[in-house]
Amino acid sequence: PVRARVADLLGRMTLAEKIGQMTQGERAPLTTDTGAVTELGLGSVLSGGGSVPTPNTPQAWADMVDGFQKEALATRLKIPMIYGVDSVHGNGNLLGATIFPHNIGLGASRDPALVRQAAQVTAAETRATGVPWVFAPCLCVTRDSRWGRGYESFGETPELVTAMTTAIDGFQGTRTADLKQADRVLATAKHFAGDGDTVYGTGSGEYPIDQGVTRTSRARFAQIDLAPFVSAVKQRDVGSVMPSYSSVDWTDDGLGNPVKMHAHQELLTGWLKQKTGFDGFVISDYNAIDQLPGTFAEQVTASVNAGVDMFMEPSRYREFVTTLTAEVEAGRVKRSRIDDAVSRILTKKFELGLFENPYADRSGIADIGSAQHRAVARRAVAQSQVLLKNSGNLLPLKKNAKVYVAGRNADDIGNQAGGWTLTWQGFSGNENQQPGTTVLEGIREVAPKAEVTYSEDGTAPAAGSDVAVVVVGETPYAEGYGDVGGPEWPWDPADGGVPREEKSLALQPGDQATVDRVCAAVGKCVVLVVSGRPQVVSTSSGVDALVASWLPGTEGAGVADVLFGKRAFTGKLPVTWPATAAQEPINVGDKDYRPAYPYGYGLTTRTS
Ligand code: IFM
Repeated sequence: PVRARVADLLGRMTLAEKIGQMTQGERAPLTTDTGAVTELGLGSVLSGGGSVPTPNTPQAWADMVDGFQKEALATRLKIPMIYGVDSVHGNGNLLGATIFPHNIGLGASRDPALVRQAAQVTAAETRATGVPWVFAPCLCVTRDSRWGRGYESFGETPELVTAMTTAIDGFQGTRTADLKQADRVLATAKHFAGDGDTVYGTGSGEYPIDQGVTRTSRARFAQIDLAPFVSAVKQRDVGSVMPSYSSVDWTDDGLGNPVKMHAHQELLTGWLKQKTGFDGFVISDYNAIDQLPGTFAEQVTASVNAGVDMFMEPSRYREFVTTLTAEVEAGRVKRSRIDDAVSRILTKKFELGLFENPYADRSGIADIGSAQHRAVARRAVAQSQVLLKNSGNLLPLKKNAKVYVAGRNADDIGNQAGGWTLTWQGFSGNENQQPGTTVLEGIREVAPKAEVTYSEDGTAPAAGSDVAVVVVGETPYAEGYGDVGGPEWPWDPADGGVPREEKSLALQPGDQATVDRVCAAVGKCVVLVVSGRPQVVSTSSGVDALVASWLPGTEGAGVADVLFGKRAFTGKLPVTWPATAAQEPINVGDKDYRPAYPYGYGLTTRTS
């Protein structure tokens, strides 16, 4: 049994070997710091978003992971390391992977079985590259659509997010033994907790919301922010949990004492491990302990003592090891706490079968980006589309219509996929290498008899078109400013705007101009908003149909499926669609709730 094997191994480990297990470095620094994995006995290696081998192929990934594994197995006790990547909507770092809609779109589907299936495909496409661990799913309950990470959330209610913890089953399977399979991975419920519920203006650095402070009572926190984690632990047996960069400040205690989640003993140890019974391990966020008060030694000690078990220290892994060792030797961190952390990590490594099969099982590589996997994603896209307006039942369109397509998101897989795709901040110029279909390509595929004309900016609407389809919205972003800089992140204040989290949620001026120009010129007009959150769209120029397409990923054909009635529109809003950004934060159940479209709204269509 695993428990006995863990106890036996732990009993033979030195303090240095134990602390090595608690340390995770990043592949890029480790690639040049030759031998560090063996020397320090590192327990884990990660790829941050966009940190990829060259060439970016499944075989090269598996070779790279196996290379680190070989170094880990060269240690005295031959303890395997565990490799982790984000895989938040497919194996996003891998060129050629199947990329699913971001969680906000999956939330619109209201289909927990679909979410499980999407996660299973993602697990298969990740583990085939030798990676047995993902930092997903995000169980944030997003309460303010100005938040730049809102698209990583399944929605604004704890009930919806809780229903979607089926993602964990998709990643891990439902029995502990499933973790050993070549198409399963250990999941991470993140970010624990309250990341989507911080108060505007309390964010870190220049971000008004991200990494901010949740100000609430313990009772409301349990109801809104902790609820999905109860399910993740008790129903799904999630293997790891990542704390949030944010802080919590209890109104019960009179406010004024915000505590960072990475040092929150009451929640990490008291609530998560003791009360809720979480028996996996807690992995810190990237350099997150740097944000705690005090010296590095104080930061390390506060976090270990609060209950963090493994530390994502991308490049400071050596300093982390030295510091934690000194803190244990000085008695500020108990050896029993170290033993608890290491036992938790080793348990998951045994359950994953890493001791018996430490190297990549590459048998699933042939299925990466396969027709079957892409078919699942395409269905997910169709189910994620939310029809907000459909005057005169314009949709579904006739398959032989004269269709004028315009807008900068009509023919751009990068914009469709959003952040955490190929690079942390999304594609930047390499989208043409990614297999998949854009919305425009999808339209041509689904309606081959339609007469399709396309102009990105809509400056030359084709005379005699029956209908226009204008595809606008956001450009990719992840953590931080968001959309202002797009691929040129970090955003340059000289651009003249303000950080995206502060913006109005209005369509960018160029996009609104395209909508206005095309809809005024073509009698019937459909507007698709490809974005990570609601956008305030002016429809006065004659928008007949309005669709929230979210961030569909690589399978734009799924959008065309609902446009032409191959499938019906069934998606329901996972978040409130405000009339103006000034209404934020606005959530179902609020007093004076007068959004443009309420939570749960979504028209249906017939199939044709
Ligand atoms: O898993 C992520 C997290 O969501 C945000 N910071 C970086 C981590 C690793 O990429």
